[in-house]
Amino acid sequence: MKQNLRIIGANWKLHPTKLADAEDLFLAVKDAAARARNTSTIIFPPALYLEAVTALYSGTKIGFGAQNIFWEQEGSYTGEISAAQLKDLNVGYTLVGHSERRWLGETNEQTNKKIHAALEQKRSVMLCVGEDERDDDGEYLAALREEVTTGLRDIPKAKLKQIMLAYEPRWAIGGDAETAPSEQMIQEMTIFIRKTLVELFEKQTAMQIPILYGGSVEVENAASIMQEGGVDGLLIGHASREPESFTQIIKAIDKL
Ligand code: PGA
Repeated sequence: MKQNLRIIGANWKLHPTKLADAEDLFLAVKDAAARARNTSTIIFPPALYLEAVTALYSGTKIGFGAQNIFWEQEGSYTGEISAAQLKDLNVGYTLVGHSERRWLGETNEQTNKKIHAALEQKRSVMLCVGEDERDDDGEYLAALREEVTTGLRDIPKAKLKQIMLAYEPRWAIGGDAETAPSEQMIQEMTIFIRKTLVELFEKQTAMQIPILYGGSVEVENAASIMQEGGVDGLLIGHASREPESFTQIIKAIDKL
């Protein structure tokens, strides 16, 4: 991906329930995403629809990704999908460690293994981190730091170009613009994550890693989160499934 591009991820989660609807949704946002000059869009449809949706686009402006992968490439792992399979389908990205996966029991060790598996197949990773809730003693910061540190353990510096982070506090997911943290809060957390990255890798490298924000991003707060939150992009859930909203967000971000 070109340097300095703004990044917009569309996490469709377990929607829609019909392939034809997934294709229609993609076609409804495709032009806006493909025409954006400064913004790269990555669509994360359900894995079952990846092949059909990627077949609807042949340019380079839009990327596609899985919402989750397993840490082995193949074997007796019923129900899993692997980075090797993504590579075969030419799917360039995967989310790892989304809070809805962590809620199902995914650990930091597992996110780390998944990242290694993705990098082994030259797939790019959007590592999602973020606290479940906030406590007055600031313990949530230690937990967040652990998600970043363990998640990125033993990742060679040369491969960091394939890594992005998405700060997604669980308490802010699935609400509306009122639910999202303030821009200032997002900026503080972006700085915290950036500092953690600088401690792990040296400064110049750490500064190159894109940090996105996700959780209740809407048409009305997308641009201000980008501008005042100090983030390089947005990971968008429900609003990415509303073609009109998603198109407006892409256009607003692209002209910042
Ligand atoms: P939301 O979800 O935009 O619906 O809050 C974001 C996410 O879970 O990635």
